[in-house]
Amino acid sequence: EGDVFKYYTDGEWKKSASGKSVAIINPTTRTTQYKVQACTQEEVNKVMESSKIAQKHWAKTPLWKRAELLHKAAAILKEHKAPIAECLVKEIAKPAKDTVTEVVRSGDLISYCAEEGVRILGEGKFLVSDSFPGNERTKYCLTSKIPLGVVLAIPPFNYPVNLAVSKIGPALIAGNSLVLKPPTQGAVACLHMVQCFNLAGFPKGLISCVTGKGSEIGDFLTMHPGVNCISFTGGDTGISISKKAGMVPLQMELGGKDACIVLEDADLDLVAANIIKGGFSYSGQRCTAVKVVLVMESVADALVEKVNAKVAKLKVGPPEEDCDITPVVSESSANFIEGLAKDAKTKGATFCQEYKREGNLIWPLLLDNVRPDMRIAWEEPFGPIVPVIRINSIEEGIHHCNASNFGLQGCVFTKDINKAILISDAMETGTVQINSAPARGPDHFPFQGLKDSGIGSQGITNSINMMTKIKSTVINLP
Ligand code: G3P
Repeated sequence: EGDVFKYYTDGEWKKSASGKSVAIINPTTRTTQYKVQACTQEEVNKVMESSKIAQKHWAKTPLWKRAELLHKAAAILKEHKAPIAECLVKEIAKPAKDTVTEVVRSGDLISYCAEEGVRILGEGKFLVSDSFPGNERTKYCLTSKIPLGVVLAIPPFNYPVNLAVSKIGPALIAGNSLVLKPPTQGAVACLHMVQCFNLAGFPKGLISCVTGKGSEIGDFLTMHPGVNCISFTGGDTGISISKKAGMVPLQMELGGKDACIVLEDADLDLVAANIIKGGFSYSGQRCTAVKVVLVMESVADALVEKVNAKVAKLKVGPPEEDCDITPVVSESSANFIEGLAKDAKTKGATFCQEYKREGNLIWPLLLDNVRPDMRIAWEEPFGPIVPVIRINSIEEGIHHCNASNFGLQGCVFTKDINKAILISDAMETGTVQINSAPARGPDHFPFQGLKDSGIGSQGITNSINMMTKIKSTVINLP
């Protein structure tokens, strides 16, 4: 009680001079669980300075040594999975078993970054001049990949650890230093994770973690002249960051309204299982969640019945008891979700279950006969509510999907692979899954969104490349 977790800079855990803290509210109990330091802009300036100095040395550290340290951090992270998972349960109300999975997946991600990094950064290109018209073979060009400098990583609340290391791993193996601004819900899990990097023995200043109020240090960080790259995952804030950020490479993964298109020949048991997994896991708080089902009218009744049978079996309650549906992250989020449900009610959607809420806990809800005039047809609830829109043609489904301002992922269920490929080509999303719910992983797969869903492509290989720049040396022969 009263303890405030310290922030991490220059290899040390420190208290902020502000004397202020930020409270982390447990979504289940709705009381203060932890407190973190409210860092000041001056402290951010110091973090940036030491980050810059540390990066210069790190860039000269042999690649294999960087990899070795990352492997060490990965192992330590996995050893510490229990206390980190415990924080995730308390801070973001993620079901207990999923919190352990998140930490283990993160350790694997770091190790994979180390392995991938030594391969792709261990190679460069050699070009000769006489392939371009008018040139003799008098110039040899050697290219290699060099780090960008200081990478600013801002992960979201739904995967505070995993989406932090998906930025930290690529940044560090590529020779960058990293400043982490964790989400408030999930900050303590992030601080524990950073302690694993500390224990692994990374040089001072190479990785820092600043906590604080977005209003005080948010823009200050993203607009800081010391930042050479921003990797952000989250909501709309990403759009304003991209407008304010300077001339630095941006990697952004923002919202999604992932559609699930169901054709008449689909295996409806498979579809129902994937709607449950895709729409309701972590109570729908994933950017890749199934956020609208577009099902052919002729199979809609049968599908809705199968999904309803599975919804009835979902366990609703606290994350400690490994319930499927747990309280959503905040009261304002619960209010927003409720607003979408009420709007759908007024406009005549069919409620397959009764709407029920206690505090931040919202019972899973399938809404049938949703029409395009309802907000839920377009907006991202980030909660356990899945709308079903009945369609009469594949074109209608594709049209709805492409009319969205989002374009993260989508999925199509059919036994006809030719149709599936044509639909995939027609869907304006970064990824289309055939016969499975959208998902980011495995973590080395490319992950990207079109339109308002993001900038650039993630996945381990793409992130490593994105966090580097090509450097050429040209040898001019006499
Ligand atoms: O919402 C975060 C996004 O990256 C989803 O990841 O693994 O749940 O598909 P995943």
